[in-house]
Amino acid sequence: MSASADLSSAASPPRVSSGVSGLDEMLQGGFPQGHVVLVLGTPGVGKTCLALQFVSAGALHGEKTLYLSFEEEPEALLGSASQFGWSLGEAVKKGTLKLVRIDPQDANNALKRIRSQFPAEVQAFGPRRIVVDSISLLSSLAPDEVERRSLLFTMARMCRQTGATTLMTAEANPLAPEVSRDGLGEYVADGVLLLFPTEDPQAHRAGLAVKVLKMRRTAHTRTRQPYRFGPRGIEVDAKAVDFGGL
Ligand SMILES: Nc1ncnc2c1ncn2[C@@H]1O[C@H](COP(=O)(O)OP(=O)(O)O)[C@@H](O)[C@H]1O
Ligand SMILES: [Mg+2]
Repeated sequence: MSASADLSSAASPPRVSSGVSGLDEMLQGGFPQGHVVLVLGTPGVGKTCLALQFVSAGALHGEKTLYLSFEEEPEALLGSASQFGWSLGEAVKKGTLKLVRIDPQDANNALKRIRSQFPAEVQAFGPRRIVVDSISLLSSLAPDEVERRSLLFTMARMCRQTGATTLMTAEANPLAPEVSRDGLGEYVADGVLLLFPTEDPQAHRAGLAVKVLKMRRTAHTRTRQPYRFGPRGIEVDAKAVDFGGL
């Protein structure tokens, strides 16, 4: 199992690897088991990639995983994963990984499925890891603010009830990048990670960085740390000295 007890503090919950060793280092060993973690960022920063890396870390140990995709089709997700050498197709064949695509255009059916069928189906499958990509599209299914809130709370509760560790992605508000577009995901999550582009105008160089905005029961770093896409996925440099900004 990739979840291992953190010996540094008796009160600290067991940790589940995010799949990114530098990020695990920023989080005292990984995500607290059973928590709902929100990954926030503008389009293209690598939220889906991080979600797939989290899935592949579980697949290595045969952990049952459910991936609810409101955006990309399963084939596209498997294609993105294979770029980094993660052969998730095998886990799908074995039945340990379920990639479920929900069409956000068909809001009525999607809502019915999420509210009436999903809770029993998900409990029966018994995943150890869940991904919801993205809750921005999930919440767009609801007709108004009250429904949006209720839908997100229902989803988060369903995930927690399984005991799985959950990664939810959300689009950042372009005008206030530390906040999600609908401002709701933060309230249902136990932890929030922000992925964001950085710029060094003097060096004419653009980069990417990750910051932990919140992680319950974790003495996490508060600095922003750079990351890049390597041949095996996202690599976070947890040792880099804070380079200012945001
Ligand atoms: N093999 C790769 N090598 C380098 N960068 C990549 C690779 N695959 C994807 N990317 C980067 O990841 C971005 C897409 O990541 P994705 O996880 O889909 O973002 P998001 O879900 O945040 O919109 C691309 O815009 C590209 O910059
Ligand atoms: Mg995405």
